[in-house]
Amino acid sequence: MTELRVDGQPVAVRDDATLLDAVRAVGVDLPTLCHDDRLTPAGSCRTCLVRVNGGVTAACVTPATEDDAVETADTELLRLRHDAVELIASALPQRALDGVESELSSLCARLDIPPATAQGASERGRDDSHPYVHLDRDLCIACGRCVRMCAEVQGAFALTLVGRGADTVVAPGTGGRWVDSDCVGCGGCVDTCPTGALSQPGLAPGAAAHRSAVRRSADVTRTTCGYCGVGCSLEVVTRDGEVTAVLPDRDGPVNRGHACVKGRFAHGFVHSPTAVTPA
Ligand code: SF4
Ligand code: SF4
Ligand code: FES
Repeated sequence: MTELRVDGQPVAVRDDATLLDAVRAVGVDLPTLCHDDRLTPAGSCRTCLVRVNGGVTAACVTPATEDDAVETADTELLRLRHDAVELIASALPQRALDGVESELSSLCARLDIPPATAQGASERGRDDSHPYVHLDRDLCIACGRCVRMCAEVQGAFALTLVGRGADTVVAPGTGGRWVDSDCVGCGGCVDTCPTGALSQPGLAPGAAAHRSAVRRSADVTRTTCGYCGVGCSLEVVTRDGEVTAVLPDRDGPVNRGHACVKGRFAHGFVHSPTAVTPA
């Protein structure tokens, strides 16, 4: 174990832990945007800045080392984190913060960054070619979470980031339409997207990643997928008795928040007029 101090509190973490792990271990809710616990950290958004041994660093990509002295909340850190998020938000159209319940919009609300901060244009367009995964390019902050999810969890390697600087945006790796790419429709990229740039049928943009919004606005029933023998845990979202979406259960012991296209999207048969129903 590695022993260090966070805001003066002693904490012991695994030897492969990051400063983000250590900060969370003492109960500090450090903001993150490009980070997803299920994925290799990227350290690209600068939202999780902390001070360690006098220097400022991104907590999600910095290993915790013995006797580190970590600070999370001095005035300069709060300003740097606020400015990092504000800069990201300012490049987006206002609808990214106004009307989308996402990790980003929640974080902006938490940091007192108003929707009017978002002054970007809507000019990059959409890709709605795929039946289950829709892309609103103007909401993409190029965090790369979807790219890593597709490669590291699904193993499809269907996505990449294209463009340079502020023009960077996610794209299917083939360069064409999403529906013509190697996407297998698992929905993992939608699930991890922190802005609502990726969305799926049946849920508001951002809601898949921001599951608390789903739980507040609809009934959720936990069940086991019946398509094959793996036994993935699923959360069936219903509204007025109708199934609107199926989300893989983050706590599912065998699928840990992931599912295949069948379990996640092939639920239309429930409403088929020819479906066999109990007498
Ligand atoms: S739906 Fe799955 S396979 Fe398709 S792009 Fe997203 S993560 Fe990759
Ligand atoms: S589509 Fe979403 S997850 Fe992918 S890079 Fe853009 S903001 Fe990040
Ligand atoms: S969450 Fe650490 S740099 Fe993005």
